[in-house]
Amino acid sequence: MMSVAEALAEAERDFVARNPQSEASHQRAAQVMPGGNTRTSLWSAPFPLTIASGEGCRITDVDGHIYVDLVGEFTAGIFGHSSPVLAAAVAKAHANGINLSSHNTLEVRLAELIAARFPSIDLLRFTNSGTEANLMALMVAKAATGRSKIVVFDGGYHGGVLTFAGGGSPVNAPLDFLVLPYNDIEAAEAAFAENDIAAVLVEPMLGAGGCHPARQDVLEALRRLTREHGAVLIFDEVQTARMAHGGVQARTGVTPDMTTLGKFFGGGLAFGCFGGRRAIMETMDPRRSGALGHAGTFNNNTLTMAAGIAAIETYLTADNLDALFARGEDLRARLNGVFTDAHAPYHATGMGSILTIHGDDPAGDIALRRLLQFDLGRAGYHIAARGLIALSLPVSEAEIAGFLQAVGDAVAARRAVYGSLAAA
Ligand SMILES: Cc1ncc(COP(=O)(O)O)c(C=O)c1O
Repeated sequence: MMSVAEALAEAERDFVARNPQSEASHQRAAQVMPGGNTRTSLWSAPFPLTIASGEGCRITDVDGHIYVDLVGEFTAGIFGHSSPVLAAAVAKAHANGINLSSHNTLEVRLAELIAARFPSIDLLRFTNSGTEANLMALMVAKAATGRSKIVVFDGGYHGGVLTFAGGGSPVNAPLDFLVLPYNDIEAAEAAFAENDIAAVLVEPMLGAGGCHPARQDVLEALRRLTREHGAVLIFDEVQTARMAHGGVQARTGVTPDMTTLGKFFGGGLAFGCFGGRRAIMETMDPRRSGALGHAGTFNNNTLTMAAGIAAIETYLTADNLDALFARGEDLRARLNGVFTDAHAPYHATGMGSILTIHGDDPAGDIALRRLLQFDLGRAGYHIAARGLIALSLPVSEAEIAGFLQAVGDAVAARRAVYGSLAAA
């Protein structure tokens, strides 16, 4: 009986044989970037695919294989890979003059559109990434409260220097973090009883941490505790803003003091944003003496501002986001149905259009996830090595039906391998 490890080794050999150009690209990249990589989350052994082009919800790698892209640029690629609307907006902004050396009309419009959507945002500022948005929100919260301790959650991800899987990372920003278990009201209550807390930074769903949604009562408890203790509640909605026109805060009715955004609100370009209650954000009002500084050459760059406006007006409408949410809920239910019917050791968790496939192996589920990823890749479906699926708007029922069929075929073909798990 072939073990999971043996099946994975075989699948890896097959992957290497099928992808000589991606391997060559990786080796070339490794001459100038550590491990050939400039973005750790994209790494997977033996080497990641190099993608040559994309159109709609499909991507083509340098060896000529075409995949339905279900990674959706880790949620940022909600538009798919080609958009005449976004292209025209960027071209128009470019023709009108880039790098204008001052305030411009586009930043005002984008700020108005975003502030109007989110219950928590009276005033906002732009950054160049979600990471930077979270760093700025934390700094502002510290300054506003005069305290330093910041509550975050195990498994939370707020950017490359704000990552809390397994407790933390050596490259995290050197802030005074208190890492609590996610979805644990008692732990939060104890933390507030024992500490003077400046801010709580929380994802309404752990995204990179495996697509585990926060419980409603937990979000409500965090709201109550922060209010009682004068701390700033920050929702990181960099991923979850797509769950509704006003994000998860609108869905749950829990309004934080501050919100951070990123990814798709830049219309495909580098983007971040933090905003919140007037009294907090006004600490950065440069008309005031002693105002907090917040700089950034590209904070208001016209190309991003124009793309963001076009994205909101054309794609990120309430109807589109509600439909995408429903499509994701439906996909997750059907996918779990496929796993259950086939007695396959997998399950999917998530919210709306963002989900993660987990392997049910007490010895660790990485190998099971990778095996499924290789099998689905062969069948023409691209999911992340960690099991993430983030639907984009161009993914239709036809792609979803094809994907579910491919999952069913893949797990049926591995039945004997799963049997080795039970035997182990
Ligand atoms: C929830 C969350 N917050 C923050 C970030 C960081 O955003 P960026 O990659 O734009 O710095 C991410 C990125 O994946 C994220 O998922």
